[in-house]
Amino acid sequence: MIYFDNAATSFPKAPGVAEAMSRFLAEAAANPGRAGHRLAVAAERMLDETRLKLTRLFAGEDHHRMIFTLNCTDALNMAIHGVLPPEIPGTNGTLPHVITTVLEHNSVSRPLQALAESGRIELTRVDCSDAGFVDPEDIRKAIKSNTKLIVMTHASNVLGTIQDVAAVGRIAREHDVLFCLDAAQTAGVVPISIQEMQIDLLAFPGHKSLLGPTGTGGLYVGPRCPAPAGGLQAWREGGTGGASATATQPAVFPHYLEGGTPNTVGIAGLGAGVDYILAHAMTETLQHEQDRVAKILAAFGANPAFTFYGSRDPRRHVGTLALNIRGYAPADVGSILDDSFDIAVRPGLHCAPYIHRRLGTFPDGAVRISPGAFNTDAELDALVDALGQIAAQ
Ligand SMILES: Cc1ncc(COP(=O)(O)O)c(C=O)c1O
Repeated sequence: MIYFDNAATSFPKAPGVAEAMSRFLAEAAANPGRAGHRLAVAAERMLDETRLKLTRLFAGEDHHRMIFTLNCTDALNMAIHGVLPPEIPGTNGTLPHVITTVLEHNSVSRPLQALAESGRIELTRVDCSDAGFVDPEDIRKAIKSNTKLIVMTHASNVLGTIQDVAAVGRIAREHDVLFCLDAAQTAGVVPISIQEMQIDLLAFPGHKSLLGPTGTGGLYVGPRCPAPAGGLQAWREGGTGGASATATQPAVFPHYLEGGTPNTVGIAGLGAGVDYILAHAMTETLQHEQDRVAKILAAFGANPAFTFYGSRDPRRHVGTLALNIRGYAPADVGSILDDSFDIAVRPGLHCAPYIHRRLGTFPDGAVRISPGAFNTDAELDALVDALGQIAAQ
């Protein structure tokens, strides 16, 4: 099987990930923070080291504010519901206003839409250009006196277009609005600096470009979100291991947001994925993926049977490209690639219905091809050959 579905989850994982998981499982899989015995301490140490590595990778200030989550959806819900809990009234009796974009994944747009439909927030969804970029000035124009939060993606999971989030971070700070970045498609492949980009809440999966296992992710909570009063409300409450006599969730990061036994085996694997990322130049991985996007565009960009969506400049992409082939439903292209060529891609709406409506590809969607860190030239040649054969039929 040739795998071009890395935007969903990366495969294969980084060398060392499987070994780190099985080693941890065999040697130290006790419950961290729950006891003072050596195995529990070893598990706690592994969590702490992985927090430190992730904080270093994203240029955060305090690794205690790096919260482990189940995936990026969990992190985004923790951020959105944490900043906008039902019991916190809006400023001066008005509802809190939230700005988001048409590029968002359902992990952002569904919780926000549900809050808007239940009358708890006022929501503005900013459009993007035909090339798939949100103009930060459009976000500035959408800010009102009751705007509390901006939530947006760093790169579209459909078009692959990388957004100017540093400009959005600057605008958010100028207007004293919290900025939550969905780094699902960029964490591990596009450099991110929490401090320079002025990100208040960074949500990311561990299982995509960080090359760790599924069931891992994280939320970095910046200092403008104190726990808990007036800041972030805990999304899950319960077992933190320590401070058991406290009647409610202890207001100390990371425990405040990490109720329940964490996925230590997965986090051990994620730590190995981050080691791989830290040991390799991220810019080279990005270039590797962009080169593959460029080759597909070069092969079919002028072919009238192909429609490409969004920017045709590979340097403004992560390794993700959306296309359709004349005469085929996207789902059929996906099935043919799978059944006849052993190639995995993702057709459909990609959990991002607003951008497909914007592109005019709703409800069938498009074929998303997402090369990753380990796709070879030979695999790309096989994909180009297969797409050419399908289009020629
Ligand atoms: C832009 C974006 N946000 C959020 C998510 C959700 O990530 P997860 O699958 O880790 O919950 C995805 C997943 O594809 C995504 O592409």
